Amino acid sequence: MTHTSDMQKVARLSDLASGMKRVDANGTPILLIRSGKTVHALSAECPHAGAPLEEGTLCDGRLVCPWHKATFDIASGAIIEPPALLPLTRYPVRLAHDDVLVSSTPEPQPNAPSASASSDKRTFAIVGAGAAGAAACAALREFGFAGRIVLIDREPRTPYDRTVLSKFVPSGEMPPDDIPPLLPDDFFATHSIEAIQADVRTLDASARRIDIGSAPSIRYDAALVATGGVPKRPSLQGIDDDGVAARIRLLRNRDDARKLVETAAQCDHALVLGASFIGLEVASALRERKLRVTVVSPGNVPFEKQFGPDLGRLFMRLHEVHGVRFRMGRRAQAVERSDADDGALRVTLDNRDTLSCDFIVVGMGVTPATGFIEGVTRNDDGSLNADASMRVADGLYAAGDVARFELQALGGERVRIEHWRVAQQHARLAARAMLGLPPGEPLVPFFWTYHFGKNFNYLGHARHWNETIFTGTPDTFEFIALLAEKGKLVAALGCNRDGQIGALGEAMRKPLDIGDAIRLAESP
Ligand SMILES: Cc1cc2nc3c(=O)[nH]c(=O)nc-3n(C[C@H](O)[C@H](O)[C@H](O)COP(=O)(O)OP(=O)(O)OC[C@H]3O[C@@H](n4cnc5c(N)ncnc54)[C@H](O)[C@@H]3O)c2cc1C
Ligand code: FES
Repeated sequence: MTHTSDMQKVARLSDLASGMKRVDANGTPILLIRSGKTVHALSAECPHAGAPLEEGTLCDGRLVCPWHKATFDIASGAIIEPPALLPLTRYPVRLAHDDVLVSSTPEPQPNAPSASASSDKRTFAIVGAGAAGAAACAALREFGFAGRIVLIDREPRTPYDRTVLSKFVPSGEMPPDDIPPLLPDDFFATHSIEAIQADVRTLDASARRIDIGSAPSIRYDAALVATGGVPKRPSLQGIDDDGVAARIRLLRNRDDARKLVETAAQCDHALVLGASFIGLEVASALRERKLRVTVVSPGNVPFEKQFGPDLGRLFMRLHEVHGVRFRMGRRAQAVERSDADDGALRVTLDNRDTLSCDFIVVGMGVTPATGFIEGVTRNDDGSLNADASMRVADGLYAAGDVARFELQALGGERVRIEHWRVAQQHARLAARAMLGLPPGEPLVPFFWTYHFGKNFNYLGHARHWNETIFTGTPDTFEFIALLAEKGKLVAALGCNRDGQIGALGEAMRKPLDIGDAIRLAESP
């Protein structure tokens, strides 16, 4: 139904060429997208974290968000790729000669399937309400599942954006209580999703039963394991001493971040163990608060395994310019409380050097949180093997950090990738499989990481590459580095090149020649 009463002229068709324009209709920001003779009117802000979508990329009827690459169908507003979990709102639009008129009253959204009135008597259980769990709930309802959904997580006030815990929370820009939720507060009630706060003790895959302690067991028809990971603790001599343990910070959830902020507020010098993404994001955030930061890590430069030595050096320089000190090629071996009044820690490295610090932040990776699962074989690292549809066994699916899945771009080789959007892509694939729907498009892995005000975007998953081609200017952090093997693009790392990364991500759904990748990376 078109709302003609409040239609107002907002643009001229001839001004739109074939691109996008943000307009204002009665105070509502609306994005106009011209496609041939048609104009689409959609919400101008990304439902994920509010990015201005007019800065996104248009590719073959799709709009890619500039910030974290959520992708939408421009005709329907539907989600093609997360991290957006809700579609774009559509607005009525009409053309009168060269005038474009829109209404700020949204087009009606399809009704959420009503679980109470449904004849579908199946129960789907989702264990873990993080990135993957939240995406699975939203996707199951989006794909039309009207049966019962039970979502279980031990943390209160889930799901929330975990990625800010190493960025804006430790820097002090975002109080832990202001961490944004992933879905509107009324989403679960509106969509008849039973959200239970409980610790899952056992999931028996053979009996299809979940035990959450004192409450009755939950019997399910299909379950999704989306329990993420538990941060690894370093095996340092002396770490279990009470005085030392009180000054060790791991980072996975809101409580961890709150403790980290409290500690940082009382201290001057942080030692970061592990030049991981989380380790270095925290290093960056703590430098924003003017703490001294020293990073200790094996390897020559950070991220050498993921990006190679040149890009690793680039990250290291960025951190050094901002005052982070590195002790690369070293491991910490022991830690003790010094006798000084302030109780500083003394850390001994594997070359017997000692460093003193006020507290330690650990960024050494995670172990998949799957200890509660019975009836299926787990890998040595605790992960679950899944096929390309995220199926682990009959009635059991896995998504996110727990899943070792078949990545089509690697010829079906199984990999485990610990990144936000991948976890949500898994969840959407699993939701399809749980409903017996055909699989979606091939998954292109993507992640972002944030250091000293610079957002880096990575596409693909490079295991091996023999060529790194730089486009743009790495020294000014305006570049895309293309990692290629045998003339094909395997991955790309970009900074300040949001549009080009958006276009590359869409193109990488199929094998991409390096020549074509260079052209896309160098496009205006
Ligand atoms: C600090 C931090 C910053 C990050 N930054 C980025 C980033 O910038 N970009 C990026 O791409 N990725 C980032 N990541 C990685 C990303 O957050 C993870 O890959 C993603 O959260 C994985 O999603 P998941 O659903 O598998 O697990 P999670 O999001 O961790 O969710 C798992 C949930 O399961 C619950 N749970 C676990 N066990 C049980 C149980 N037995 N019973 C009940 N509930 C249980 C947990 O409480 C948790 O809420 C970051 C991770 C962290 C920790
Ligand atoms: S703001 Fe659009 S994907 Fe994050």
